[in-house]
Amino acid sequence: MKQEQPFEKSEIILTGDRATGPLHLGHYVGSLKQRVSLQWMHEQTILVADMQGLTDNAHNPTKVSSNILNVVADYLAVGIEPTQTTICLQSQLPALAELTMYYSNLVSIARLERNPTVKSEIKSKSFGRSIPTGFFTYPISQAADITAFKATLIPVGDDQLPMLEQTNEIVRKVNKLAGKKILDECRPLLSNAPRLPSTDGKNKMSKTMGNAINLGASEKEISAAVKAMYTDPSHLRVEDPGQVDGNIVFTYLDAFHPDKKYIDGLKSHYKQGGLGDGTTKKILEECLQDMLRPIREKRAEYLNDKAQLINILKKGSKSARENSEKVLFDVRGIFGLNIF
Ligand code: TRP
Repeated sequence: MKQEQPFEKSEIILTGDRATGPLHLGHYVGSLKQRVSLQWMHEQTILVADMQGLTDNAHNPTKVSSNILNVVADYLAVGIEPTQTTICLQSQLPALAELTMYYSNLVSIARLERNPTVKSEIKSKSFGRSIPTGFFTYPISQAADITAFKATLIPVGDDQLPMLEQTNEIVRKVNKLAGKKILDECRPLLSNAPRLPSTDGKNKMSKTMGNAINLGASEKEISAAVKAMYTDPSHLRVEDPGQVDGNIVFTYLDAFHPDKKYIDGLKSHYKQGGLGDGTTKKILEECLQDMLRPIREKRAEYLNDKAQLINILKKGSKSARENSEKVLFDVRGIFGLNIF
């Protein structure tokens, strides 16, 4: 089914996910849902970012390789159509690595050090003084991903905004060197849903921290995650008035429950007192079970037919490879290297 689109012209959309774990509800509200509707009106490419996944997992590569098909199955299960969206594998597009090499001559170490997302990732990953060069420079490789398709619109979370800023700086430098516009600047498409917190209420959801509900979560896992969810710690007795702000159960109900009026009523009741966390959790659990059941089932079906998943990825990678080589040719040309 085609969906209403807020964009007048047709955009070139590129986005990607590190293949370091199965995708979760945060990806779903933050980006996947949008991609599903955008694919009917725009040219869309989705990159399974295996090489970027390796930038901090090179010593544990199966974390990446074992998740490639999981991520593809996640895409298909939520409704991404390989006939509408090119799904490709980053490592199968050599032009991306070559573009990264050219671009890296245009970006200073000081500029990389200023990237706030990389800065905070470096801190949280406790690399100490052993930051892998590939990790430190991944914003340049991400600029290659984006420009290789001349992408104009990038559906991402706000943590990716510094990457897009760096991409556009590279685009301007390349165009200046070329003396004409050969690359396009991109803009983010941020989800209007607020970032989904982790189930413990402490962080953002993470593929690796065990505080997320995966798209393929079993009935039991969903149930356990909802039961353990952070609510209002001072709401001790059912009759006590409760806090809705910061109460993760309500954050999730806002994000996923189809009946907003009903949720508003529930919130007033909770604030007044007389509504227990057991009840709100039961409502949320039912809503998540209903939403995730068909996704889980489709995902399992796809993962049962790995040959089909590989075929989809192979076909998408072939067409993306051809596309990306055109931009590589232009960029090489700027440096006077297309001599034969
Ligand atoms: N950095 C993104 C992530 O952390 C993945 C990614 C790789 C990406 N290349 C991209 C996102 C290009 C948008 C555009 O998941």
